[in-house]
Amino acid sequence: MNRSSSSRLASSRFAARLLTTASAGLLAIAVATGQTAAPPKPATPATSQSKAAPAKATQAKAAPAKSAAATTASGDKVPMVEDVFRNVKVLKGIPVSQFMDTMGFFSAATGMNCTGCHTPESLQDVAHFADDVPRKVIARQMVLMVNNFNKSGFGGRQAVTCWTCHHGSQAPESIPSLMAQYTVPEEDANSIEIVPDGPTEPTAEQTLNKYLQALGSAQKLAALTSITAKGTYEGYDTYHMKVPVEIYAKAPGQRSIVVHTQNGDSTTTFDGKSGWVAAADKPVRLLALLPGAELDGARFDANLAFPGGIKQALTQWKVGFPVTTINDRTVNIVQGTGAGGSRIKLYFDEENGLLTRQVRYSPTIIGTVPLQIDYSDYRDVAGVKMPYGIVITWTGGQSKILLTDIQPNVAIDAARFAKPAPAVVKSFGKAR
Ligand code: HEC
Ligand code: HEC
Repeated sequence: MNRSSSSRLASSRFAARLLTTASAGLLAIAVATGQTAAPPKPATPATSQSKAAPAKATQAKAAPAKSAAATTASGDKVPMVEDVFRNVKVLKGIPVSQFMDTMGFFSAATGMNCTGCHTPESLQDVAHFADDVPRKVIARQMVLMVNNFNKSGFGGRQAVTCWTCHHGSQAPESIPSLMAQYTVPEEDANSIEIVPDGPTEPTAEQTLNKYLQALGSAQKLAALTSITAKGTYEGYDTYHMKVPVEIYAKAPGQRSIVVHTQNGDSTTTFDGKSGWVAAADKPVRLLALLPGAELDGARFDANLAFPGGIKQALTQWKVGFPVTTINDRTVNIVQGTGAGGSRIKLYFDEENGLLTRQVRYSPTIIGTVPLQIDYSDYRDVAGVKMPYGIVITWTGGQSKILLTDIQPNVAIDAARFAKPAPAVVKSFGKAR
């Protein structure tokens, strides 16, 4: 739990600093952020990173021209907000990937697309995300307001977030809804958490055993050592059109997924220790996955390709979640913890024992963002049931993978699991 609690600590310190500025009545919030939250690792001089950055902070007069860039265990630079964006005044001192999670959080909380707070031109040219529009300015003030609430009312704990009031709506309601009061709302399986008197049976052990039995014999599970899969992918990064996707995995825990988008290949790779995303639609074309939720997620996905080892893939297994349903089917929830301290909830179909969903969580300085992966269409591959349907849902979009072919135990070039090259963006007109 070290990693997540220390990042929470960093967040509340960050909030405290913002508050100081806010209560000083300064709307020029930039001053607050020159020396913000501690980077995940000791800072290294980030000169090359700064040079490589497409847009250096031009307006950040108030902030000293220093970069907080750190490096991951794999030696990759971690680009910070200041290295990449031009007009960020409150959400500073955080890695770019966490910043993009905060934007997803904003969208989820207010029910607005990216262009709800940004000019429409931003979708053609990302530089326009820096332009200020009235709603973006309000959103900035809201961040300060929320930090203020949490500091003064909740000891700096992230008790109130944008979601608390907005609940997915642009305009929070202030009059109680009689309809809401007198109807039973549909239950969101993701919001089910452990309750004090929650069910202790089936135990995590029982549910995981049932899953393993449903997948195939121990012998078949152990015999599976590599997988290559092909199929289609659709998501916001492919304009919701189907494009080819390939997945490569090697036991015990290496995995790479390549999506051939119209704008270039997007690759996510985990080599067993480190991970990277090289995506054509990202503000930085090669990003190392950060310790904590990002690496835990990639590691778990890689381990899950060889599910015989699922019990060792996570630790601190917990049950105690009230029974719930997904698509009218009863599911049992089991929670585990990744090596980096982040929690992952697993939803197993009560009847057939198979894994229906995983939900994992990434902390950010404004709140925690969820990511959900749904599995369907299990079919037999070399005596082991594997999901051919995978749907990934997060605050920034939804991606659907439909596999058409999974090949077991084929040789895979080790280079597949090495750090990918930065994504190469094809020009817009050349979409295949
Ligand atoms: C509720 C309003 C809101 C929504 C919705 C929103 N943003 Fe933002 N965005 C902001 C604010 C506010 C800032 C400036 C943050 C600051 O100053 O600390 C910002 C800044 C940015 C920046 C930095 C630009 C720069 O160079 O300074 C990028 C990139 C960005 N947003 C992308 C997105 C994307 C992509 C989405 C959709 C997933 C999105 N935003 C959705 C409010 C929003
Ligand atoms: C304590 C409740 C509360 C919280 C927490 C909160 N908001 Fe708001 N927000 C409001 C209310 C109320 C309004 C409408 C204000 C008005 O009527 O003028 C609003 C309005 C907005 C608007 C303007 C919407 C429009 O119609 O143009 C944006 C953007 C916004 N909030 C973003 C955020 C973001 C981002 C966060 C989290 C950092 C946040 N809010 C947190 C209560 C809240």
